[in-house]
Amino acid sequence: MDAGDITVIRQAAGMQALSRGWHSEGLAVGLVPTMGALHKGHLDLVVEARRQCDRVVVSIFVNPTQFGPSEDFSRYPRDLEGDLAKLADIGVDAVFFPNPGEMYPSGFQTRVELTRLPAHLCGLTRLNHFAGVAQVVLKLFNICKPDVAVFGQKDFQQVRVIEQMVADLNLDIRIVRHPIVREPDGLAMSSRNVYLTREQREAATVINRTLVDSEAWIREGEHQPAAIVKRAGQQIREAGGEVEYFNVCDPVTLDDLNRIGAESTQVLLVTAVRFGATRLIDNRLVDCVWAPQPM
Ligand code: PAJ
Repeated sequence: MDAGDITVIRQAAGMQALSRGWHSEGLAVGLVPTMGALHKGHLDLVVEARRQCDRVVVSIFVNPTQFGPSEDFSRYPRDLEGDLAKLADIGVDAVFFPNPGEMYPSGFQTRVELTRLPAHLCGLTRLNHFAGVAQVVLKLFNICKPDVAVFGQKDFQQVRVIEQMVADLNLDIRIVRHPIVREPDGLAMSSRNVYLTREQREAATVINRTLVDSEAWIREGEHQPAAIVKRAGQQIREAGGEVEYFNVCDPVTLDDLNRIGAESTQVLLVTAVRFGATRLIDNRLVDCVWAPQPM
């Protein structure tokens, strides 16, 4: 299958009609929402959707409403031709590629906001980001009509926001979380990695290394989140990263934990780090299978 075989649809009504047709044939539809500049992290999500569904739609839309005024919306990498070539090998049935006017015509005024999850982590510095994400993803769900939608665990807070929205609004869509796909040296794959200089790219391996080390510190008996946060922050700063946050939190509510192993059976280690102007996020979910320690 070459890139020419993928149907690229730019109109919401056309996408809805296509998906409606598939449903009438009893076919299961999978959706992978993306902003393009596809890398192996995205492609693994598409393979997973392919495995679980009869028809697969990938949406490519750099959504303006989830970028802040000083963020990288205008310079975000865009490469439709390259993206289509990458998707052709996997066997994608349609790419939904709307322009901003199709998604947000004049007169548009509906917001989708969650009250608690966005008040943590990335939401503290990226104001309105998760409202923008929820808004566009709800629209993509209504346009592409998936039975299953696949999201990466790399954007952990994002997938929690989507799961919560789906539960709260009774959306009949199964959300699949896909594990983080990493470069051979451990750096989480990201469309933003292309912004890094060679030195920054090398230094950025400290992020995953520190998450792995933090799990080891927990397993060695360190159950105080503050101690983990301090040690992890030092390690990342020593490598040249500027830590926006490094948190030890509950993976459902994203609330900070007071003591590891006491409140939940899983702990989320989650961080945002800047190298120069480039902001990278990563996380690690740790199972706390040991018996809770006395307080
Ligand atoms: P984007 O950053 O393009 O990511 C699209 C999907 O790919 C998200 O679910 C993200 O978590 C996943 N992904 C990215 N890098 C990954 C990696 N290294 N391993 C696993 N999954 C990875 O996230 C967005 O776009 C947007 O916010 C979107 C949901 C499309 C709404 O606009």
